[in-house]
Order: sequence, then C-alpha cells, then structure tokens
Amino acid sequence: MGGAMRHHWLLLGACGWVLLILMFVSKFISFRAIDDYGERVGGQSWTVPGTKLVKPNPASIIEKKPKPSDQPSAGPTAADWQAVAERRVESLSAVCRNSSLRNLTHVSIGKFVLDRIFVCDKQKILFCQTPKVGNTQWKKVLIVLNGGFPSVEEIPENLVHDHEKNGLPRLSSLKPQEITHRLSTYFKFLIVRDPFERLISAFKDKFVKNPRFEPWYKHDIAPAIIRKYRKSHRDSDQAASGLHFEDFVRYLGDVEGRQRMDRQFGEHIIHWVTYADLCAPCEIHYSVVGHHETLEEDAPYILRAAGIDQLVSYPAIPPGITRYNRTKVEQYFSGISKRDIRRLYARYQGDFHLFGYPSPDFLLN
Ligand SMILES: *[C@@H]1O[C@H](CO)[C@@H](O)[C@H](O)[C@H]1NC(C)=O
Ligand SMILES: *[C@@H]1O[C@H](CO)[C@@H](O)[C@H](O)[C@H]1NC(C)=O
Ligand SMILES: *[C@@H]1O[C@H](CO)[C@@H](O)[C@H](O)[C@H]1NC(C)=O
Repeated sequence: MGGAMRHHWLLLGACGWVLLILMFVSKFISFRAIDDYGERVGGQSWTVPGTKLVKPNPASIIEKKPKPSDQPSAGPTAADWQAVAERRVESLSAVCRNSSLRNLTHVSIGKFVLDRIFVCDKQKILFCQTPKVGNTQWKKVLIVLNGGFPSVEEIPENLVHDHEKNGLPRLSSLKPQEITHRLSTYFKFLIVRDPFERLISAFKDKFVKNPRFEPWYKHDIAPAIIRKYRKSHRDSDQAASGLHFEDFVRYLGDVEGRQRMDRQFGEHIIHWVTYADLCAPCEIHYSVVGHHETLEEDAPYILRAAGIDQLVSYPAIPPGITRYNRTKVEQYFSGISKRDIRRLYARYQGDFHLFGYPSPDFLLN
C-alpha cells in the first residue's frame, strides 16, 4: 500500500516536471511558431508602410465576379461586393447542412479552435487566424484597434506574434461565458485561399525556404514524415534531399495514420490542417469569409463591414501576390500519383466545398 502510494507521488512529481518543461519550451517556441504569409514578391516586403488601401483591381477577381452592370470597366462597387460576401456565407451554411460532408466540415469548438481566434474587444471583432493568407497584417490591424500601438507601421515585427505583450488576446484565454458572449455578438471573420495552393505555399515556406528561424520543420517534422511516407528508404537520398512534396501529400492524405504524428507536431500543424479544423466555420457563424484571391476587394470590405474603415487601413498588397496560379499547382502535383492526389482531395474536399473553390479536376482525372 505504502509502496503504491510512493509510486503515485513519484509519478505525479515527474508529471509536474514534464509539464513545467513543456510550458517553458512551448513559450519559447510559440513566439515564432505562428507564422504568416511567407511569400514575398521581388523582395518587396508585405509590410509596405501602406497608409492607403489599394484600389480594387478588376483583373484580380478570378471567381464569383459580379456580373458587369452599367459600368463594365469599373471595379466592383461596394454593393456588388456585399452581394459576393453574402453569397459566400449562404453557400457556406448550405454546405454545412450537407450530411454527406459532415465528417469533413463539422468540428467542435475546442481549445485548438479557440487558440486560433484573436479578440479585439474595443471594436467587438473576432479574427480566426489561417496562415498563408496575410494574417499578420490583420493581426497588426487589430493590435492598433485594441490600442496597443498608434499605427500598423509602429508595431515591431517580433511583437506581432507575442500575444502576452501585444494586447491581442486569444479567445482561449477568456472564461467560458465570456467566450460564448463574444462568439454570439461580435463581428467574426477569417480569410481562406484555394486549399491546394495553400498546401503548396505551406510546404515551400516551412520545408524548402524556411525564411524565419524555425528549425523544427526541417529537423523534426520533415524526418518524421519521410520515415513514414517515403516510398524508397535509401538513407543517402533521405538525408540529402529533405522533404519532397510527394511525401508531404502522402502524409496529408493519410487521415487515420497521421493522427499520432499530428499530436506530436503540436501547434505547427496549423499550417496544413483543414480550415474546418482551424476555425470551425460550421459551428461559428462567421460574418465574413474573405478570399485571399480577392483580398484587394475583401480587405476594404471587411473593414467597412466591421465598422472600422475610418479607424485603420489594411497595408498595401503587393501586386500579383494574391492571384491563383494554376501552372504552379500543376507543376507541384505533376510527379504525384492520381491515387495520392485523390486521397489528398478526399481529405480537403470539405474546405473546397465550404468556401466555394472548384474541385481541381485537372489533377484528379
Ligand atoms: C453534398 O455533397 C456531396 C459531395 O460533394 C454532393 O455530391 C451532394 O450533391 C451534396 N448535396 C447537397 C444537397 O448539396
Ligand atoms: C464519418 O466518420 C465516422 C467515424 O470516423 C465513420 O464511421 C463514417 O463512415 C464517416 N462518414 C462518412 C460519410 O464519411
Ligand atoms: C505561376 O507559377 C509558375 C511556376 O511556378 C511561374 O513560373 C509563373 O511565373 C507564375 N505566374 C505568375 C503570374 O505568377
């Protein structure tokens, strides 16, 4: 009896230490873990000190473009864009009701989701962070609104992701009633992009370029994926070549098999898990879903819809950076088997349907 008791306490003590160490490590890591839009165009920083919004560029609207009315040469009007935004929200909730997609679209609002959502109490706004769509810029906008800094340009880059110091709390840091109240009354938005292009962007940014100092992608996550998913296990090419897009696609398409790995990878999976898993768009009724492909229209629209367009502006968007590039998608998937691509699509088709992206038939058939 006494032995068992002692054992019990030893175990408890050990757990305590492990927890402490984990807390310390996660603090260190989370500082850089949440990344933003890694792509740069021609060395042009995404953080151009833009005090004015970019004019809507008609050429960048690739889908759901409002029908040309009396002024075919002008960009979409505010009213046009409101119609686009409303259609998106309606079609999202229609897909949420489709029971055959239920497994891919419905997610419980757990800590993982609440960790993704940032709170601006001053203006009653919630923003669900989805990497690779310029979300750092939105966080800066919200930090300014919360009163942390007078303008977007004055926020030091290293503070944007430090949520203990930047005055932009996560929804998960609040009490249950406070969370429920905000979810039901605040303006809520997220930004999405074509699901496959997003995966390519995450792959490039984390496993090829890795421009921020984030060694765990290449040193921990890539070898784990290679060990489990690379077809040929010759040691020499494993060490030399790093993660291939093919390995990544096989890992992503393996719904059951990757679960244990994903738990080990922790928060880093935010760069590739589905938007449904990140933001629970069928459970949380988002007011607006912006599309990265039409950010030039969506950014000003979101500011107006949230009632903050007089207070703050979204930084200038480098031209061409948001456009969907089918050639690039074809190139990345060109060496990958149809079977692997179909599996990947099976996993991500919830996102394609929820946000109105056409299924990539040019890859599947
Ligand atoms: C539900 O989704 C499936 C799969 O995409 C589709 O075939 C079906 O038509 C959808 N059902 C409705 C009612 O929209
Ligand atoms: C949904 O998931 C459950 C459990 O994982 C599974 O049994 C069921 O077949 C799935 N349904 C669909 C439509 O995929
Ligand atoms: C699209 O991607 C291809 C291949 O990566 C690249 O060569 C091309 O310049 C891109 N096109 C545009 C318009 O960015």
